[in-house]
Amino acid sequence: MCAFTVAKPFVLNNNFEIPSIPLILIKIIQTLDDDSGSAKELEQLILHDPALSARILRLANSAFYSLRARVKTISHAISLLGVNLVTSLAIGVSIFDSFSRGGSSEAALISRLWTHSCGVGVLVREIWAGSSRKTKEAEFAFLCGLLHDLGKVVLFRAYPGQYGSIFAIRKSESDPAISSYENQNYGADHSVIGEMLASQWGFPQELVAVIRRHHDPLASDIPMIKAVMLADFMAKELKIGYDGDDGLNEKATELQSKLNISEAEYDRLTTFASRERENIEGFFRIR
Ligand SMILES: [Fe+2]
Ligand SMILES: [Fe+2]
Repeated sequence: MCAFTVAKPFVLNNNFEIPSIPLILIKIIQTLDDDSGSAKELEQLILHDPALSARILRLANSAFYSLRARVKTISHAISLLGVNLVTSLAIGVSIFDSFSRGGSSEAALISRLWTHSCGVGVLVREIWAGSSRKTKEAEFAFLCGLLHDLGKVVLFRAYPGQYGSIFAIRKSESDPAISSYENQNYGADHSVIGEMLASQWGFPQELVAVIRRHHDPLASDIPMIKAVMLADFMAKELKIGYDGDDGLNEKATELQSKLNISEAEYDRLTTFASRERENIEGFFRIR
């Protein structure tokens, strides 16, 4: 039985205000698929935020992209990495910053969650790019991985103190998953709460579906959900960050075969993630 049980219907804490992210980012994310996102608008937005600029430049210069020239400006980064990837990064960083503002005592836990999320993003992007699927969609895959556990970030903000305690409980194989604790305490789990926010912000349907349905990837016919959950499994197996759950997904082998990922490709992905660990762990630490 969960030590924090407070049975109540699903209503987020009355004092909770849904944080806003810059409107322009929402506008740009909605146009991710049609190539009409404006590089100039994006550049202006990023230049207004030194922390965001630093992160984008760090990523552009990381081994992850193995670009030959040193990237010194945001416009150079956008032209090399593309509007889609830089938008995905900007969205992730804006959300992270708006939910962890104030330097709460839970900042370390949130940071571990974001390391996990970033690890899943980097891995799912690699899974997507490594298959025959379109490279452009790989950047959208990154965003799906980065935001799949969005509801947990909302819960940290809505229930300061309490959610951190639930998140930090060490859950053994026989203990319930974090979703059970969330359902008992808040009447809904992070997939439902994340969907609420993602819909409210007008995120693309496929991203909303990933957030809502990622706990049952085999039941869905959306390949992105399966790829995100295989990446989630790998990030946990490699202990990249922490997402509040200790159990590993027993369906990983089935996901791997549904996605047509060979053993050799799986090994390549593992080596890739191990090599990128430092970049992944450092990315959200830059403030
Ligand atoms: Fe989850
Ligand atoms: Fe996760």
